[in-house]
Amino acid sequence: MRGPPPATTAYPGGVNQFSPDAPARAHDFSLSSADDGLAALSAWRGYPRVQQPVWPDEAERSAVFDDLRAAPPLVFAGEVDVLRERVAAAARGEAFLLVGGDCAETFAEATADRIRNKIRTILQMAAVLTYGASVPVVKMGRMAGQFAKPRSGDEETRDGVTLPTYRGDAVNDHAFTLEARTPDPQRLWRMYTTSASTLNLLRAFTGGGFADLREVHSWNRGFTSGSGYDRYEELAGQIDKAIRFMAAIGADFDALKVVEFYASHEALLLDYEEAMSRVDSRTGEIYGTSGHMLWIGERTRQLDGAHVDFMAKLRNPIGVKLGPTATVDDALRLIDTLDPEREPGRLTFITRMGAGNIRDRLPALVEGVRDAGAQVAWVTDPMHGNTITSSNGYKTRRFEDILDEVVGFFEVHQGLGTVPAGLHMELTGDDVTEVLGGTGEIDEEGLTRRYETLVDPRLNHQQSLELAFLVAEMLSRR
Ligand code: PEP
Ligand code: CO
Repeated sequence: MRGPPPATTAYPGGVNQFSPDAPARAHDFSLSSADDGLAALSAWRGYPRVQQPVWPDEAERSAVFDDLRAAPPLVFAGEVDVLRERVAAAARGEAFLLVGGDCAETFAEATADRIRNKIRTILQMAAVLTYGASVPVVKMGRMAGQFAKPRSGDEETRDGVTLPTYRGDAVNDHAFTLEARTPDPQRLWRMYTTSASTLNLLRAFTGGGFADLREVHSWNRGFTSGSGYDRYEELAGQIDKAIRFMAAIGADFDALKVVEFYASHEALLLDYEEAMSRVDSRTGEIYGTSGHMLWIGERTRQLDGAHVDFMAKLRNPIGVKLGPTATVDDALRLIDTLDPEREPGRLTFITRMGAGNIRDRLPALVEGVRDAGAQVAWVTDPMHGNTITSSNGYKTRRFEDILDEVVGFFEVHQGLGTVPAGLHMELTGDDVTEVLGGTGEIDEEGLTRRYETLVDPRLNHQQSLELAFLVAEMLSRR
C-alpha cells in the first residue's frame, strides 16, 4: 500500500486514475448506516430545502435509501482526490477543464451507442483544445448521474389539465399522466443502476484503446473534411504535424490510449446524495460517491439552504453555478462555507451569465474573489444564460450566443490577468437539431427535424466540434 500522493503540481499527461500509476491511497469505505461519521450529513433535513420531490410513500423512500446506503460506491476516494489536484491545476492555468453531456440523462437513452457517441465527442473536443491551449485537458461528463432537474414551477398545465412537472427520470416520468408524473422512489435505485452501467462503459471505453489520440484525431479529420468545415483544416493540419512529430521522437502512444475521464452531475436530490455518501474510515472524511465532481445549481445555492449545508461536508471537488444576479458577497460567503481552508481544487464557480451579461457581470465577481485571496477555478457554462423560445415554440439557443459567451469569458479573464479554467457544455454525440446555427445552419424549421431533449437544448456532434475548433483557434492565437 502506498502513502498519500506526492505534493506535485505536474499533470502526468495521459496517465489514468484507473491505472496503477494513479496515487493509490488506503481508502476503506464504511458501509454501515449506523456509522457515526455519517450522522452529521443528515443535518440538511433541518434546513430550508428547495427543488426536492414530495415522495408519496415515506416507508418506500426510506427502504430505497437503506438499499442505496448498503450498495457499493460508484466512484472511489482515490479518484476524487486525483480530480481535486486536476481542478487545482486548471485553476492555476496548468490544465483546462472540459465538461460535457446532456441537460438531463434519461434511462431510455443510457444505451451503448449514445454513451459511446458522447464520450467520443468529448474526446474529440479535448484533442483540439489540448492543442489550442497547450495544456492537458481534464475530461468530464455530465454523465452517469445527471438524472434530476430543478424546475421553475411545480406544476405544468396542458389543455386545462394540471400535473406535477417532470423533474428528471430520477423522480418521475415525462409522459403527461398523473401516474407518470407522480414521484416514485424506486427511480432512485434505477438512477444508481443506470449510473453504474454508464460508468462501466465509460471506464471500458477510456481504458480500452477507444481514446487512442491517433484515432481521435482521425475522427476530427473526418469532421473537417465535411462540407463547409474546411476552414478548420488548417488547425487539423497543425495537429497532424504535432502527432507526426510525437511519433518521430518516439512518444509512447500506447500510454496515451488510456485517459482519465471523470463523471459529474448536479447534486440535486439530497436523499440520493446522502445515501451515496461514504466515510473513508482511514481519515474519517466523507466522500460523495455518486460522481467525482458534484455541483450546486443556480436555484439551490442559498447560503442558509440544505444543499450548501450538505455539500460543505463532502470531500469532493464542488461546483457552484453563478447566474447574473450573483453578487461578490454571495461568492465570498459561498467560499467561506464550502472552502473554508481555501484548498486548491476544492471549489469551482461555473458562471452562466448570458452572452449579453458576461462582460458586465463577471469582472466584479472575479476581482472580488481574487482580492479576497480565494483560489477557485472559474469555468464558463455558456448554455443556461442563453435559452430562448423560437417563434415555432421550441426551447432553443443560438450557437452564436453560446460562442459569444465563451469569447466574453476569455476576454474578461485576459483583461484581469486571471485564469479561464474551463468549459461546461450541454451536448450530445448525436445529430439532433436543438440549437440554432453553426455551419450546419440549423434554422427554426430545422428544429422540427430531430428535437429530442426533454429539458434543455444541446449542441449536436458537429456543433460541439465546431465550438471546440473555434475555441482552440482562439487559444492558439494567445
Ligand atoms: C443545468 O446545468 O442543467 C442547470 C439547471 O443549470 P443552472 O443551475 O445553472 O440553471
Ligand atoms: Co440544462
